[in-house]
Amino acid sequence: MDLRDILKRRRMVRHYTGEAIPRETLERIVATVRRAPSAGFSQGQRLLVVDDQGLLADLAALAGNDDPEVEPWFPSAPAHVLVLTREADYHERYRSDDKLQEGEEIEWPVPFWYVDAGATLMLVLLTAVDEGLSAGVYGVPVEQDPAWRALLSIPDELRIVAGVTIGRGAPDPLWSRKTSRATQRRRALDELVKWNTWSS
Ligand SMILES: Cc1cc2nc3c(=O)[nH]c(=O)nc-3n(C[C@H](O)[C@H](O)[C@H](O)COP(=O)(O)O)c2cc1C
Repeated sequence: MDLRDILKRRRMVRHYTGEAIPRETLERIVATVRRAPSAGFSQGQRLLVVDDQGLLADLAALAGNDDPEVEPWFPSAPAHVLVLTREADYHERYRSDDKLQEGEEIEWPVPFWYVDAGATLMLVLLTAVDEGLSAGVYGVPVEQDPAWRALLSIPDELRIVAGVTIGRGAPDPLWSRKTSRATQRRRALDELVKWNTWSS
């Protein structure tokens, strides 16, 4: 599929048919992590794919939404991809000789480990669309983070940045519309993009 078509089709889908996604398809989607940029080629991104029925049910139970007004997001998702980051990879890389500045690790302009995780997240979303599938991003609430880590054996050195559900899209006419362009205006391009100086 052409990139422009993929971008047009990409939107968060929070309801799926429940049809299982072949392992090879998920493998192609997550293999894109190796194509993601990373600061200094630190490669701190990690992906955890969850397609085990028992764990999927456990995640749905943890998310715990049984509001009939809301699409059954997690219960209908046949796979999750958790985007994780290992911050230590960045510190280790930037303490290499070619990265040290006056013998010190740089002062980080922003936490590049989250930037790279975001870039990876986008590759997962776009590749899912390219595979004819739909995807939805979620954050793990801070108070639930320990339970997710325990369930999925995620070590302390990895931080959960976000999760992505992947599946064959089903209609989502209800709650999903509230946080989307179906009900909220997109900011105008000239509000988002400036040329040459921000005061232009
Ligand atoms: C980092 C991140 C976290 C998000 N967390 C949630 C979430 O917890 N629940 C949710 O319903 N949507 C979540 N979203 C999806 C956004 O609400 C969605 O991208 C936005 O409304 C724009 O809609 P679109 O992606 O369909 O264009 C998240 C998106 C991002 C990038």
